[in-house]
Amino acid sequence: MEKKIVVIEGDGIGPEVTRQAVKVLNAIAEQFGHEFHYQYCLMGADAIDKTGNPLPDETIEACLNSDGILFGAIGHPKYDNDPSAKVRPEQGLLKLRKSLQLFANIRPVTTYPSLQHLSPLKAQQLEGVDFIIFRELTGGIYFGKKELSEDGTRAADDCVYTRTEIERIAHLAFQYAKQRRKKLTLVDKANVLETSRLWRKVVQEIATQYAEVKVDFLFVDNAAMQIILNPKQFDVILTENMFGDIISDEASVISGSLGLLPSASIGAGVALFEPIHGSYPQAAGKDIANPLGCILSAAMLLDHLGLAKEAEAVRLGVEWTLVNGFVTKDIDPINFYFTSTIGELVSDFVANRIPGGVN
Ligand code: IPM
Ligand code: MN
Repeated sequence: MEKKIVVIEGDGIGPEVTRQAVKVLNAIAEQFGHEFHYQYCLMGADAIDKTGNPLPDETIEACLNSDGILFGAIGHPKYDNDPSAKVRPEQGLLKLRKSLQLFANIRPVTTYPSLQHLSPLKAQQLEGVDFIIFRELTGGIYFGKKELSEDGTRAADDCVYTRTEIERIAHLAFQYAKQRRKKLTLVDKANVLETSRLWRKVVQEIATQYAEVKVDFLFVDNAAMQIILNPKQFDVILTENMFGDIISDEASVISGSLGLLPSASIGAGVALFEPIHGSYPQAAGKDIANPLGCILSAAMLLDHLGLAKEAEAVRLGVEWTLVNGFVTKDIDPINFYFTSTIGELVSDFVANRIPGGVN
């Protein structure tokens, strides 16, 4: 199969982790007889430095013409402590999500038995934890009208949702739940927010079309607590943009390291795949970041391209490194391997241990 993949390395540790994912994709292409053509594009602080624009038009154009996008990370500390900066790296990612209508961000939370000791949770709470967060990604407070009064003493961010925006992601989440353990939890703040009451109403209506899926509703403050106290109870969590941002970071530490978790952002057409970690500037260029979140994002990209066997080969390679103690510094600060070594080990696994099979 021939596929066009846009690679956006981005900021901080983005370049070093995406390079490992590309190594693994190359091993997959070789082993399974595919051709992946990569086009490298700019976004974020890197794009601001080189072009003045966090999302150059050429990047949007290339993404629209591709079969999938692999993205590293975004953000630079020089913007974080400067509230008056007009151009910010994150604007690039937000604009890309909007331009490609990537309305659903899917973040699976899985646990690895060999990493249990790293989780802040106790072993008995961890066993059997396996859930997916569906976060709405192109609406809500992130994209509402922003205001700052002239004298700088009053600021506002509008939170708006339409029925259509809720319906399209709700259907997707119900379809996933149907294929899984058939439970969907809507996380909202319907005791206070009008937007949340609309979410509840629309989700209750859609639920009648998925009779086999059990639905429950949790206020976000309670959900934040339940994710830590009893994460096993969740199968598919559906929520709006900002609540999803917050609870998915919270959920990510359950597995033992933020560096492990991948995500997919899907929508109207082409989809984007990125690790959920940030640009981790303190580690940039040191070859110590965990590339597995990005490598597993490449596995989600393969699944999205219909290459399920190939995706599985990548996941097996990742598990093999973890089980055999080939881990980065975030997992073992004393006996650790470099980012690039982990990339090579997963690639070697794909090349040598998976019985070949040209599709
Ligand atoms: C994420 C990030 C982004 C978000 C930032 C970088 C704009 O935190 O993908 O979760 O808030 O959506
Ligand atoms: Mn986030």
